[in-house]
Amino acid sequence: MCIRDSLPADDKLDDQAKQTFASQLFYCRSNFDDIDGYKRLGDLLNKLDKEEHTGGNRLFYLATPPETDSTIIEQLGKSGLSKPVQQDGDKQSWVRLITEKPFGHDLASAKKLNQELAAVFQEDQIFRIDHYMGKETVQNIIAFRFANGIFEPLWNQKYIDHIQILVAESLGIGSRSEYYETEGAIRDIVQNHVMQVLSLVGMEPPADYNANDIRDEKVKVLRAIKALQPEEVNLRVVRGQYTAGTEDGKPAVAYKEEHGVNPASTTETYVALKLFIENWRWSDVPVYIRTGKHLPKRSTEVTVQFKRVPHQLYTPTETQGLVPNRLTMRIQPDEGISLKIGAKVPGAASKLSTVDMGFTYNDAFDIELPDAYERLIADCIVGDSTLFIRRDEIEESWRIIDSITEAWQKAGAETVYPYAAGTWGPKEADVLIERDGREWDNP
Ligand code: BG6
Repeated sequence: MCIRDSLPADDKLDDQAKQTFASQLFYCRSNFDDIDGYKRLGDLLNKLDKEEHTGGNRLFYLATPPETDSTIIEQLGKSGLSKPVQQDGDKQSWVRLITEKPFGHDLASAKKLNQELAAVFQEDQIFRIDHYMGKETVQNIIAFRFANGIFEPLWNQKYIDHIQILVAESLGIGSRSEYYETEGAIRDIVQNHVMQVLSLVGMEPPADYNANDIRDEKVKVLRAIKALQPEEVNLRVVRGQYTAGTEDGKPAVAYKEEHGVNPASTTETYVALKLFIENWRWSDVPVYIRTGKHLPKRSTEVTVQFKRVPHQLYTPTETQGLVPNRLTMRIQPDEGISLKIGAKVPGAASKLSTVDMGFTYNDAFDIELPDAYERLIADCIVGDSTLFIRRDEIEESWRIIDSITEAWQKAGAETVYPYAAGTWGPKEADVLIERDGREWDNP
């Protein structure tokens, strides 16, 4: 397919703009391990620098099979492409590299990849992308917490009962069986997207809005999550796999029957877990995480549930149906924030009911939310790595995930619980939270 034909068909781009854009695209074909290919690429870039006055700036974007990463990085180094092109006068060009997930398969492979990158690039040249960080609503967690004075004093174990993070998808694995079979839900979603969201929800106020201050605080949250012991994995982590059911009302096949999936596969398409951030702010506040394919709807949200009032004025009958205060940050869809509060039902009786106070992006701002990748690629071009994942964050996150996957390896297949496609996951996941006297907050 021609790139011009893949550009949006709407009226945002006229034909002339599409034509100009397409005329600036060049293709240089090579095998990943062929040093001559990198030299050809370098020659092409040098030529374009002169013709198009691009200033010698290069951004390499690795959306390549993970097993090829090491070779590409090594060859970029050997060919000299990782070094900025010398510029005339005091103008210095830049070279940056974006790597897509998966960033490693476990802690050991992530460390190895980090070392290989560090042998060729400086850390400030490396942009490890997690597209969740490019979502407006994820960035709004920082704004919500630190641009408002009224929530932060309550944002701790004195007032918060627990936190829930949900990444629900209605789709199955689609045509990605080869990738998904080796990753599963915990590596595909929890290790990266969920850990990123969790670190923003849990972090201390940074001194400044810059790449180092923000990432210093985020990584401290991950460091405060202890690796789980095998017996804790048994108690606090539930994995599931979808069986035949429905997707948006239409029949959906079981995971084991998806094209390319091993019929005896034990890969999880669902995971629910309970973690603790073991520090002063979050002591004893459980964080319940859920993610899955083929759940009833697509919805990503963070729910912060506050503790109940210390002394109840109303009788149990009067407060029947009243849920504790819950703040929900909806990351997608219907992006926004809502707060559940108790209110008196009009009338002579003292009856209480839960009502919603909220804002949605749609109502508040009359602009279309940019795609996460637009923001992240633009940030990389200006050299701002605030929303990219630092080396230590990746490694801390894998440390936690490894403790779970290693326990699973020993546990065997019977601990992958089935759930019908189109339902909210296995019943064992309900037990996980109900045992604590709490319940899932389904959207
Ligand atoms: C990707 C996962 O990182 O995120 C996919 O590999 C998942 O399996 C996707 O579907 C979800 O992204 P989003 O932006 O649709 O929530």
